[in-house]
Amino acid sequence: MAFSPRFAPVARSLRNCQRPVKYVQRIRPVAQIRWTGSTSATSEPFQPSDEGGTKGQSYSAKEIKFTSEAYPHIKKDPKFTQLSTEHVQWFKDLLGSESAVIDSLSNNNAADDIEPYNADWMRKFRGHTKLVVKPESTEQVSKMLKYCNDNMLAVVPQGGNTGLVGGSVPVFDEIVINLSRMNNIRSFDEVSGILVADAGVILEVADNFLAEKNHIFPLDLGAKGSCQIGGNVATNAGGLRLLRYGSMHANVLGIEAVMPDGTVMDDLSKLRKNNTGYDLKQLFIGGEGTIGIITGISILCPQRSPAVNVAYFGLESYNKVQQAFIEAKKQLSEILSAFELMDGKTQKYLAQVKGRKLPIEGEHPFYCLLETSGSNTDHDSEKLQTYLEHVMGEGIVEDGVVGQDATQNADLWSCREGITEILGHWGGVYKYDLSIPIGEMYDLVNETRDKLTKAGLVGDDDSHPVVDVVGYGHVGDANLHLNIPTRRFDKAVERELEPFVYEWVAKRNGSISAEHGLGITKKPYIGYSKSDTMVKLMKQIKELYDPVSIVLLDVGTPI
Ligand code: MLT
Ligand code: ZN
Repeated sequence: MAFSPRFAPVARSLRNCQRPVKYVQRIRPVAQIRWTGSTSATSEPFQPSDEGGTKGQSYSAKEIKFTSEAYPHIKKDPKFTQLSTEHVQWFKDLLGSESAVIDSLSNNNAADDIEPYNADWMRKFRGHTKLVVKPESTEQVSKMLKYCNDNMLAVVPQGGNTGLVGGSVPVFDEIVINLSRMNNIRSFDEVSGILVADAGVILEVADNFLAEKNHIFPLDLGAKGSCQIGGNVATNAGGLRLLRYGSMHANVLGIEAVMPDGTVMDDLSKLRKNNTGYDLKQLFIGGEGTIGIITGISILCPQRSPAVNVAYFGLESYNKVQQAFIEAKKQLSEILSAFELMDGKTQKYLAQVKGRKLPIEGEHPFYCLLETSGSNTDHDSEKLQTYLEHVMGEGIVEDGVVGQDATQNADLWSCREGITEILGHWGGVYKYDLSIPIGEMYDLVNETRDKLTKAGLVGDDDSHPVVDVVGYGHVGDANLHLNIPTRRFDKAVERELEPFVYEWVAKRNGSISAEHGLGITKKPYIGYSKSDTMVKLMKQIKELYDPVSIVLLDVGTPI
């Protein structure tokens, strides 16, 4: 197969093959987009409303509608005690540091300081907490939970607050237990690759630490600069390299967690094999903090690959995306580390909102980002080049580029990682994170777009609530992110979307939450993905470990 001049191969292969190429120097490196997990997120406010409404203007975090007003059917359980200044003083005495407690109950001046802990980064949810506490040891978490359990004080655990389903912020006045001060790397074993660290270590900090030891954290996300590894484990975050390394369920070897009554479950095992009965740590992975707070993890970290290549290409149909993926598995097998999907609309809006040029010319209905990670540059480059020649020669791929250094690779990744943030540009986003059989994955985007268009809700001007319907995600994991960027939240849109999306997914035995968790938003719909029996068993686990239910968000109870 002749090599297509439209692809720019990596530098080494270029020297070897002496073929005509298109260079990628035109790619302008941009600062990597980070989810800030704070009120400085650049996306416009997400303003859910039961009444719908037209909320076009900007709101500060303080102006976000309270979750308790946006979702009036969520009721505070009257069994909980009202927070008092005596309670607050108990926490101050325990933590003994001014910076470890933010208290707006006895200190009116703290009202602004507490807001970033009440609101999520999308500005979609806002609670009423008056107390944020930041323990720095497992022992302190244990004492706190025991105290809260004994005094009927509700709590919400919080990591980097980068979640997408409203699980890390209070709804009412729950005490926020923020893990950010528990940020020590406890140990790393270079022979086994096992890292033991506090839950509050930021993912990127852990990964940078591991980079110095030639290892890699087996999870990567757009939010890496803000999210915390304890939160990643608690939500079983999937991310960009699940295809290669598997989920948190596969990599976490041990967990230290504090149960709601203050009992410390010390299962910080460093064993890969431990066949001694129930694997209780798995209940905490993806448990979203409902049965206890993770304070430390032990995780198996792979060797860092010295040879990383990233290719970004355009394709004319979703069928071609699947063909490109099949070929990638066949030809790149053991070095394939990511295969991501971005539809043409996400890339068009990314260019528009960011005011940036895309890596390749022209408009393509679909784009893919492929990454290889291996141990031998020559071998990997040759394999990738053979793959690219094949997919170009067979007409599977229309055009593409390959990054030639780490900066260009990061720039190509930013075309994928930057999507989440830019979709908030027009006001808000309806977000669905779905597992669907790969073959049918994109049909849902088309059908949703047709449905909303037929209902007259999609358009270019302000008279239409919906800007567009877009799809992106992790092809390799059959995980679609169906997103509907909107100018305002509107009941008419919601009626078209739900239960349609959930029914569509359930019909295909998919999951209504592939990697984001249930949180506040998806919890009422668990029945679309789990049977009554399974929900009942989950509720029994919750009741067993948190009988008082001080850690809110009890899985399985419709809100
Ligand atoms: C992603 O894959 O980019 C994240 O899961 C976030 C999102 O769904 O927007
Ligand atoms: Zn994702």
